[in-house]
Amino acid sequence: MLRRSQSLIILQLALLFVLPVGSFAQNPPGERSAMSDLQMSQDDIANERISPYTLRRMGGLVFSTPFTKLDGHGHGPVSAHEPDLLETRPTLQGNGTFLRVNGLDAQTCMECHSVLSNAVVPFRFGVGGVGSASSNAMFKPTWIDPTTGGKENFNGRFINPPFLFGSGGVELLGKEMTLDLQQLRAQAQQSPGTRVALVTKGVSFGSIVCQQDGTCDTSQVEGVEADLVVRPFGRKGEFATVRAFDVEAMEFHFGMESVELVGEGVDRDGDGVINEVTIGQISALHIFNTTLTPPIMTLSSEAQDGQELFEHIGCADCHIPSLTTNSPMLTYSFPEVPTDPTANVFYRVDLRDYPAFFEEAEQGGIIVPLFADLKRHDMGPGLAESFGEELAAQFTTARLWGVADTAPYLHDGRAMTLTEAITLHGGEAQAARDAFINTLDAQEKETLLTFLRSLRTPHADDVAPDLQPVNNGRDWEH
Ligand code: HEC
Ligand code: HEC
Repeated sequence: MLRRSQSLIILQLALLFVLPVGSFAQNPPGERSAMSDLQMSQDDIANERISPYTLRRMGGLVFSTPFTKLDGHGHGPVSAHEPDLLETRPTLQGNGTFLRVNGLDAQTCMECHSVLSNAVVPFRFGVGGVGSASSNAMFKPTWIDPTTGGKENFNGRFINPPFLFGSGGVELLGKEMTLDLQQLRAQAQQSPGTRVALVTKGVSFGSIVCQQDGTCDTSQVEGVEADLVVRPFGRKGEFATVRAFDVEAMEFHFGMESVELVGEGVDRDGDGVINEVTIGQISALHIFNTTLTPPIMTLSSEAQDGQELFEHIGCADCHIPSLTTNSPMLTYSFPEVPTDPTANVFYRVDLRDYPAFFEEAEQGGIIVPLFADLKRHDMGPGLAESFGEELAAQFTTARLWGVADTAPYLHDGRAMTLTEAITLHGGEAQAARDAFINTLDAQEKETLLTFLRSLRTPHADDVAPDLQPVNNGRDWEH
């Protein structure tokens, strides 16, 4: 009840805000850029001159508004942009719009992040959800041969979109784990020659030993880069924060270049538009993405038995049921310093509150029931991509919260059922996979799947409540 009434009041309050409307000089008569309706100044955000509701709603609109060439979508003529950077992005007859391969594959984030649950038919939509295989990104192929079969006719990455629900809790965990690991390295530097175990929140990232001069031997570090920055985002664990991912997503999918990527007033892609995405717009997008409510689970007694089996056969070694943060406050930084997530903080959100609603832990932080360890694992040659050399077979443990609603599974969506996903585990997960297949009888397998099917995405009403369509005076009846 509290939730509903709270959100209604906030909705009404928001209607009092007049969204600043600008327009771009180059807009042809009768057309307007989408971004001109979405102006957000970083200064206003940092000084809390914008209500949290308006801020999240603006971020949600940045996430769901289709961009056009008036906003800077796509690239200019090949001769006009920095050649090395963008020449591997083909478009038809060089039209600079779409070809789906290596980006320029959509107009809005929501095109790919929109399935709330495909456990029902037809599937249910929800802002920030997963995408089916037709929304997969095709990352940096240099070779596609559709005329031949076999393993070698596509050499890029084919990546299935995960959901963004609960990503604030994941980002906060990653930041706290990074701080711990940085402190453990500092300890190792203070006692040269002593091997220090890199354990944070019960997850082991190997060990480190340092010399008198402060240099360290990182050969025993595992599951994380040698800089000891935990990067939960991206299936290979490349991004420490959602913000860093969002900036890349804008550039990769749309050719929308953020000021923080290319600089103020710089037209790197030669399309005639500068300041395509401002620092304030990325901040709003980041805050929206990281305040989406987390997935939920309700365990029947059969599901509880299933979870015990899951833990017993070793699945939970990587898919750790929950991790707990020290603080409930997610901080936002600009510019970000990955090795020091406490630097440059300009905004804070309490993840226990509306609209994220994470459960509070006894010690005052939040419980993040993610079923993962934020660590990268070798999954064996069967899942290896023909890309990325030494990291080809390595993937960050998939977070299993919500897994009942998010088929197809694995990094490229190759597994259409849970059983297929488990069966395709190899490498470090070989033993657990073999135990599932060979040790569990049919009834136990079913019980384990009953448990996985209790891990659900959020209720439709709780997903992006600030973005439920409201008639803001610009909507037309139809
Ligand atoms: C063409 C489809 C597509 C579009 C459009 C798209 N995404 Fe994604 N998104 C993906 C895929 C695929 C991944 C997984 C990429 C990876 O693991 O490297 C992903 C991953 C993410 C992640 C990381 C999630 C995680 O848990 O690892 C974030 C954050 C994200 N997208 C935000 C955005 C935003 C913001 C936009 C719009 C600016 C956007 N995406 C547009 C397909 C898309
Ligand atoms: C060594 C660590 C490890 C162990 C042990 C492990 N997994 Fe995984 N699991 C992963 C990784 C990494 C992925 C992602 C692989 C990919 O994206 O291709 C994954 C993916 C999955 C997925 C697909 C999720 C999705 O959204 O795509 C399911 C389901 C799953 N695991 C279930 C299990 C079960 C059940 C067990 C025990 C039998 C298990 N896993 C054991 C690391 C592990």
